[in-house]
Amino acid sequence: MFQYLKICRRTFSDLAKDVVTPPIVRQRTTTRLKDLLASKNVSPDEKHFINGWVTKVRKMKTVTFLNINDGTCNEDLQIVVGNKLSSDFNVGSSIQATGNLGTTPRGQIELQVTDIDLVNTCKHPEYPFITKQQHLPQYVREFIHLRSRHKPFAATMRVRHAAQKAFHDFFDAEGFVNIHTPILTSNDCENSGEVFLARPESADLLKQMKRDGVPEEASYFDKKTFLTVSGQLHLEAMCLGLDKVYTFNPAFRAENSKSPHHLAEFYMLEGEIAFMERLEDLTALLDDMIKGVTRKLLDSSSNDISYLTSSDQIDFSWLEKETPTITYHEALKILEANRDKIDIPVNPKEGLAKNHELFLTKYVNGPCFVAHFPKDIKPFYMRQNHEDPTLVDCFDFLVPEVGELIGGSVREHKLELLEKNLPNKEDLEWYLDLRRYGSACTSGFGMGFERYLQWLLNVKNIRDVIPFPRWPHHCDT
Ligand code: 4AD
Ligand code: MG
Repeated sequence: MFQYLKICRRTFSDLAKDVVTPPIVRQRTTTRLKDLLASKNVSPDEKHFINGWVTKVRKMKTVTFLNINDGTCNEDLQIVVGNKLSSDFNVGSSIQATGNLGTTPRGQIELQVTDIDLVNTCKHPEYPFITKQQHLPQYVREFIHLRSRHKPFAATMRVRHAAQKAFHDFFDAEGFVNIHTPILTSNDCENSGEVFLARPESADLLKQMKRDGVPEEASYFDKKTFLTVSGQLHLEAMCLGLDKVYTFNPAFRAENSKSPHHLAEFYMLEGEIAFMERLEDLTALLDDMIKGVTRKLLDSSSNDISYLTSSDQIDFSWLEKETPTITYHEALKILEANRDKIDIPVNPKEGLAKNHELFLTKYVNGPCFVAHFPKDIKPFYMRQNHEDPTLVDCFDFLVPEVGELIGGSVREHKLELLEKNLPNKEDLEWYLDLRRYGSACTSGFGMGFERYLQWLLNVKNIRDVIPFPRWPHHCDT
């Protein structure tokens, strides 16, 4: 008993110290090309073992030069094999090699191979990326399952990884708690009817689970269920207790849109902050987020970003400027004054079309916030403006070449107003409860992650910044 009490009094960190971690035994340590090519001191005594795919083959009389890429960086490593290799070592084949480091006459690092294994040859001439020529994005997109071997796409995926980590780091440093909001949900947060229905495929199961008064196709959850269009309402629930929360989940929208800025499945970064009542506090936080994360990426992913973009294509001067906020009313005035430069005329009751958004970013020469849209064109959860009840306290953050990147608002926390505006009260009784039990005003936003990457990397089509894009008529791979 005494012993047991002693153990209980020990802290978890004491316990963790006692855990003996067995050494990890690896047969061979693989050197990653990113580290190898960055190393300054070339020691010919050091043996290295590498994995990778062949990107180029040059056969000489007695030796063969292979360029290898292992997906860790854009640069290839030249390896020198001291004999003639079989033609199975072709472009696209996967190999493993051991050797000593050396330098080429041009001073670049190369590997003098002592052992080489062919893991798998590559079928020619079918392999789509045999030639070194630049491929058009639409060509590369025909081979979604092989795209990771296309260098610009691999670089995009590495930047995507770094970007999602930078956003997580930003929220962690700001004291936010990451919440996994549900993918299956019975609410259509935006009430725009763009939901995908989710139900079991098995007719037997549906029959088995059927209850009185529930349509058979809804019998799994006793109600219609969808793939989420936004985690916002669940975030609001978590926020009123955890203070600052965010989610970085997929969102699904059933639109018949083949536009270069829309996907049926995309990743949305959403945040919600309790006790935040001023729209300008929210826009200031997001300005810090976008600038902070972008600066970090320009530093940490500089190799990949400069490989993918040329400096004359992208203007990062906005990082040093204050981001302007204009009202929706001011935006309309600007657009009307420039009617001759815009294809589609503005209709104040319809909000901003893509070409209006793009024009506004050109007009202010960078990203901008457009605030206080009319209540009638925005969802039920946005707070009615105190001074002008026809408006809501919301904003869209617009960026060049992409248009709307972030949408956010102060949330309506008056129960009576929400009860009046809520489209499907019976399904969202729980949401109204949030306003009944110690509610506070909250503010929040949602950012399309792929649109951020499009803007950062100047990518024309959103399908080229997500590994497996889903858009109308395309869900094969
Ligand atoms: O403006 P949206 O629809 O806002 C919401 O869903 C809010 N409930 C978010 C919140 O406040 N928590 O979507 C937010 C962002 C848009 O600004 C856009 O960048 C992106 O999500 N987005 C899409 N991205 C790719 N494909 C689509 N079909 C998108 N629809 C919206
Ligand atoms: Mg929006």
